[in-house]
Amino acid sequence: MEFDLTGEHSRYAYRLLAGLVTPRPIAWVTTIDEESRVNAAPFSFFNVFGTRPPILGFAPGDKEPGIPKDTARNIRRTGEFVVNLVDEACAEAMNQTSTEVEFGVSEIELAGLHTTSSSAVSPPRITEAPVALECREWSTLEIGKNRLVIGLIDRVITKEGILDPETLLVNAENFSPIGRMEVPSGYCRTEDRFQMDRPE
Ligand SMILES: Cc1cc2nc3c(=O)[nH]c(=O)nc-3n(C[C@H](O)[C@H](O)[C@H](O)COP(=O)(O)O)c2cc1C
Repeated sequence: MEFDLTGEHSRYAYRLLAGLVTPRPIAWVTTIDEESRVNAAPFSFFNVFGTRPPILGFAPGDKEPGIPKDTARNIRRTGEFVVNLVDEACAEAMNQTSTEVEFGVSEIELAGLHTTSSSAVSPPRITEAPVALECREWSTLEIGKNRLVIGLIDRVITKEGILDPETLLVNAENFSPIGRMEVPSGYCRTEDRFQMDRPE
């Protein structure tokens, strides 16, 4: 099958791309508003893009053209955010924080979550999340109804046991991130891993 996303099939772009480009990691982003209220929301249009300097990007679509989601709005105001990663234990709470609530209502409380102060940025991290990346906004590109938030990663914080303290390599048995799969509600677990060495 072939689809022309510039023309007759443009309305299927979300279904096709979000369904096919999988698995995707999930950025569970915490920000604060002008009254220091914490906002949390998941974004699977997300990845890291380099390490010198360490950068990541995620893409909140606008609610309506020119009207950003609360996450993008808060980042535009404060320039800071935390990307929390999502494991199996956090999956349901993450999903609950994706509900549209009125601006200023905390998804953290709704989902029964807790927060812990960050080291380098004002928004806190989600206590229950296995990993947190404290970020500063580098730039936000506005492309149609997409906003692509590019962040510099200041700090990486992990729960005990996820990294080997000597090598800093991941202990796979202690880290079970979930991935976003087929639209509308597919996810994957990451227990069934395999190793493959690079060719010489
Ligand atoms: C797993 C998952 C991934 C999501 N990924 C995105 C995404 O990449 N971009 C987006 O705009 N919305 C995404 N959403 C929907 C947002 O989380 C939702 O619109 C949320 O209410 C935005 O919150 P905010 O207004 O507090 O920023 C996703 C939802 C879920 C459950």
